[in-house]
Amino acid sequence: MSPEPEIEIAAEPHSLAERAVGHFTRMAEKNIRDKGSFTVALAGGATPREMYARLAAQPLGWEHVHVFWSDERCVPPEHPDSNFRMAYDVLLSHIGIPAGNIHRMTGEAGPVEGAARYETMLHGFFGDRLPCFDFVLLGLGSDGHTASLFPGSPAVLEDTHWVVGVTHTVPPSPLVDRITLTPLTLNAAKNIIFLVTGEEKAAAMHNVLKGPHRPDAFPAQRVTPKDGHTLWLVDSAAAKEITPIIGE
Ligand code: 6PG
Repeated sequence: MSPEPEIEIAAEPHSLAERAVGHFTRMAEKNIRDKGSFTVALAGGATPREMYARLAAQPLGWEHVHVFWSDERCVPPEHPDSNFRMAYDVLLSHIGIPAGNIHRMTGEAGPVEGAARYETMLHGFFGDRLPCFDFVLLGLGSDGHTASLFPGSPAVLEDTHWVVGVTHTVPPSPLVDRITLTPLTLNAAKNIIFLVTGEEKAAAMHNVLKGPHRPDAFPAQRVTPKDGHTLWLVDSAAAKEITPIIGE
């Protein structure tokens, strides 16, 4: 049974980003100290941008950090909609991380080929056991999606593949196909943080955390790591429809 998720509320997005950096660096430093490495799957979208930019100033042992993604849009890496491009612009191009530690999803290959390539790469890195990321960062869409697990998508119920391609033709934008880690892989993670800001996410947060169990409609409900810890790191605007457990 997955432990209850923890909720941590910051007053506004800037202090939220600072808290997220604190969680990241504490987890990274502990894993590097304990086992010499730290594997993290980054979220896409706009919310994590400030966190990534602040993270670039952290004196971490980046040579021990391996960066993956929880999802990617099927566009070239230099495209403005690329999740890799955003992380590269504000974080990866500013830190001394070896190129071999950056495990990009090849969105340009398309959803089917791109997903197959990423799954093969994960097998190469983690072996044939389910990938157990030290940390997975996720966002939340106003429709209750996370990563590229959208309402009504077969990917939400995927329980065989580690990575799948997603055909994406209806909002939310961008209306491009995707590659996404599946719930199977997400739920093997040791630590998951949902980073959520803004009043436009308040209803989705309520549906996911307090609503009926309907993962087809609210896919973020599928994220229930078996042995991992889940933290909802949110600002007060996103939390306005749920009871704050820990607040600023
Ligand atoms: C993506 C993301 C997606 C994102 C949410 C929230 O590729 O779009 O991974 O799951 O986290 O849609 O996006 P915002 O942070 O832009 O609101």
